[in-house]
Amino acid sequence: MLDIWKLIKSYSGPRGQSFLKVFRSLYFIEASPGSMTQVTHEPTRIREAKQEDASAIARLGAKVFSTTFGHSLPTSDLDAYLAESYSPSAILEDLANSKKDTVVICPSTNLNHVLGFATLTRRTIEPCIRHLEGTTVELQRLYIEPNSHGRGLGKSLVTHVETIARHEGFSTMWLGVWEENIKAQQVYGRLGYEKVGDRDFVMGSCRQTDWIMLKNLE
Ligand SMILES: CC(C)(COP(=O)(O)OP(=O)(O)OC[C@H]1O[C@@H](n2cnc3c(N)ncnc32)[C@H](O)[C@@H]1OP(=O)(O)O)[C@@H](O)C(=O)NCCC(=O)NCCS
Repeated sequence: MLDIWKLIKSYSGPRGQSFLKVFRSLYFIEASPGSMTQVTHEPTRIREAKQEDASAIARLGAKVFSTTFGHSLPTSDLDAYLAESYSPSAILEDLANSKKDTVVICPSTNLNHVLGFATLTRRTIEPCIRHLEGTTVELQRLYIEPNSHGRGLGKSLVTHVETIARHEGFSTMWLGVWEENIKAQQVYGRLGYEKVGDRDFVMGSCRQTDWIMLKNLE
């Protein structure tokens, strides 16, 4: 195996690089300088979330929220927000809400293992996009397991949710993203979303500013 690896690495230029890319995706491995690591690029599948996924979604949501935003609010506000939004019962309520569709992304080989999720929410609006009411829909949540960032999973989920929105006749999709969440803003920018305004986002005693970003789906 080591010899094959050396051979691949000895290729230089665009051909060598693309060979390496194909090799990685075929064998589902990720290369890091000087080492070969764990399988990470296994094929994935997106499916509608079921009631049985509530605990896994709640766990992942609470983990990603705490990792990404935990430093930005007092612990008591964080705990209250997690209980309100990412407890299994809160997720069960979301799953039963006909205004919301949640989809999950899982390894094709284990459709019970939730690597990420996204939620499309209908009939929500913000003042800065009031003129679009009835024709726009919200991408409310997009969370990916931290070990799986940068693999295209977020993009796949967004593309999937946009397809649902198009089928339902919506012409734009909007989202709110914390003004200090630069990475997510850049990701959304890559996916075609543009800042059109902002809003206050309140969690307990903590008031933050979100950017409102919008994408034309037509
Ligand atoms: C934001 C998040 C959902 C992105 O998911 P992801 O699976 O890592 O993103 P992807 O790998 O699908 O990348 C999507 C696009 O963004 C680009 N991108 C990824 N990471 C990036 C970064 N750090 N900076 C700039 N662009 C980036 C990718 O290159 C890709 O664009 P391309 O296909 O044109 O090359 C994920 O990082 C996450 O869960 N973050 C924590 C929770 C969060 O902030 N959610 C958003 C709340 S509003």
